[in-house]
Amino acid sequence: MGDLDYKTLYTQKPPPLGEELKAYYKLDPQYINLNNGSYGTTPKPVLKAVHDLTDQIEANPDLFHRISYPPMLNDVRARIAKLIGAKTDEVVLVTNASMGLNVVLRNFNWEEGDAIFTFTTTYNAISFAAKSIGDVPPHPTVHTIQLNFPTTHGEIVSSFKKFLHEHPAAPNNKRVAIIDSIISLPGVLLPWQDMVKIAKEEGVWSVVDAAHSIGQEVGINLTESAPDFWVSNNHKWLSAKRSTAVLYVPERNQHMITTSIPTGHAYISPKDREESNFAPQHEWTGTIDWTSHLTIADALDYRAWLGGEEKINAYCHNLALKGGKVLAEILKTQVMDPDGEFTLNMVNVELPLPPITTIEEFTKIDIVLKQKLLIKYKAYSAHFFHNGKWWTRCSAQVFNTLEDFDKIGHIWVKVCEEVKNELHVK
Ligand SMILES: Cc1ncc(COP(=O)(O)O)c(C=O)c1O
Repeated sequence: MGDLDYKTLYTQKPPPLGEELKAYYKLDPQYINLNNGSYGTTPKPVLKAVHDLTDQIEANPDLFHRISYPPMLNDVRARIAKLIGAKTDEVVLVTNASMGLNVVLRNFNWEEGDAIFTFTTTYNAISFAAKSIGDVPPHPTVHTIQLNFPTTHGEIVSSFKKFLHEHPAAPNNKRVAIIDSIISLPGVLLPWQDMVKIAKEEGVWSVVDAAHSIGQEVGINLTESAPDFWVSNNHKWLSAKRSTAVLYVPERNQHMITTSIPTGHAYISPKDREESNFAPQHEWTGTIDWTSHLTIADALDYRAWLGGEEKINAYCHNLALKGGKVLAEILKTQVMDPDGEFTLNMVNVELPLPPITTIEEFTKIDIVLKQKLLIKYKAYSAHFFHNGKWWTRCSAQVFNTLEDFDKIGHIWVKVCEEVKNELHVK
């Protein structure tokens, strides 16, 4: 794809998903990108829309910021809301998942004796957000629930229920669970709707870290799943330009979000307001580059042109399943989830590297792996240590093919050998 205008482009037949789509991204042709899951990969038509909008903004910044952008923002919120089965006024845009989750966690009225439940697999920065809240008065207690893979959805659900039973709240205290819909490392789908249901039955607030969900999980219906709070990045799987995330707060809980972060012009003290001003507060939280939020509409148009959410995710899911097998064969190891119960578009495969016991050993190996993959071999899939083994997490996006998995498999074989020899780890 050259500089073809995307509006003209969408009148044409889309290419098949896979190799031909690489031309629709700015990716270095030498680079094998099997890590869409971390930062997303913005398609050219969306980048073009960002550039066009930037030109429009710069032509008259005041016109844009004072008049043009609010209706554009509302249109985008309406489209996102429709995609996730929510009302427009239950959906606002924030800069990233970390921000959305911090808005929620820092708006709870914490009291001594309250509890926050996280998991050993909670995204690092989000467990630290919980820890930082526990570190200051009134010091809610942070509990960590052990979660090791391989396991089963049934086992996760029953051990979550058991944990909540074993950690009851004092009569006037609250309990808040941070539940991943799709864990980052390993990249696995959790039975989050069941976990939300259990939390509700137990009187526990559910805060769903759905950073990886929108654009990967088909058929999200938040009105039906009814989490108390839910946050997803639009720049990971939805093909939006980073950074942008959606924060969903159902009407029943909006009174709890007393301030956006940062506090904006629409703040009203809770004592002076009769209704929630959740959406108005998030319309302006300080000057930012709005283009990532406003071109979500273009990301949705691009995805519709490719064939829509179901087609896109069927392709990525099948590729993740097949690619994982190819990789495990090359590495002579195993796929973490051979039955596919936990697999959407990310697959975790064991790496032939010796186990480590300290964080220092992890850091030493981690640095070398990143250098070799990104600089020497120009390829990347995430790597992590979990439950006594090293793993790689490969993301299958629309431009990936089985050949990418084959290529990265052979690169991983070399990288693991080099690391073992150079760092003398056996
Ligand atoms: C599960 C999960 N939560 C939160 C985040 C944080 O996302 P961001 O860096 O966009 O705030 C990530 C990022 O990869 C993630 O995977």
